[in-house]
Amino acid sequence: MYEDWDRLYAEANLLNVPRMEGEISCFGMGGSGVVCDILSAFYPLVKDMKFADVVIAVSYSGNTTETLQVVRRALSMGKRVIAITSGGILSTLPVEKVLVRGGEQPRYAFPLLFLPLVKMLRPDLVREVIDGVNAMEAKRVAEDLLSHVRGKIPVFYASTYLGLAKRFKQEINENAKYPAFFGEIPEVNHNEVEGYAHGDSLYPVVFSSSEVDEVTARLVNARVIRVSGMRDVSLLIQSAGFLSVMLAREMGEDPTKLTRIPEGRRLVERIGG
Ligand code: PA5
Repeated sequence: MYEDWDRLYAEANLLNVPRMEGEISCFGMGGSGVVCDILSAFYPLVKDMKFADVVIAVSYSGNTTETLQVVRRALSMGKRVIAITSGGILSTLPVEKVLVRGGEQPRYAFPLLFLPLVKMLRPDLVREVIDGVNAMEAKRVAEDLLSHVRGKIPVFYASTYLGLAKRFKQEINENAKYPAFFGEIPEVNHNEVEGYAHGDSLYPVVFSSSEVDEVTARLVNARVIRVSGMRDVSLLIQSAGFLSVMLAREMGEDPTKLTRIPEGRRLVERIGG
């Protein structure tokens, strides 16, 4: 699927999206919610939906309990809600919909969820997202990272591009069934960096866009990947996919199969939506 992302982005670019104004908040879980985190580097999203004029809910399945709960709360507060989804319960609620094609794993459908959001909030960046996709270059970055991650636990750090750090962590967890973590700069400089006195089993990576990011990298002797703008982000998101699938192959894991996440979803659903 990651090979095919130029096709998925082209498909996503055909979708019509609603116009919007004012304060926007955006949320979702896992491979859906991360599109909001990544976009927040380029658009100042409102954290607390109380202060939002428009609430964007992202759920590929449309059946994620936590996401449905927040949508119902937003509707009860009289908010305008826009859902990016392939259907499910979410599409039956009184929300405006951007309906995308279903049938993929949410994490592989990233272009179908991310591009509509970019089109809504930063239409000027759509071209950069599409141009950033480059399977050959993304694989080269992934192969290089894999050679260092092997036998270690990767930890991804960032400030502005925290969504990118989160995406690498998620991809490795879900596709390779392998531990990975992420942390926010500058917060980690006030606690986590001390842990590196005994951190030989970790492989820290900093997505750097500022001098403070570089300081963090020096403190923990991290690999630095410099990021400047949407084109880099787009390429690195694709690299995260390749890295996680390569690691899955080495771990003997099937990237498409999930066991604990569906079980967790079932148990949370039983608690109530
Ligand atoms: O990638 C995945 O499969 C998960 O992280 C899902 O995205 C997460 O469970 C949320 O589901 P959905 O994207 O359908 O809302």
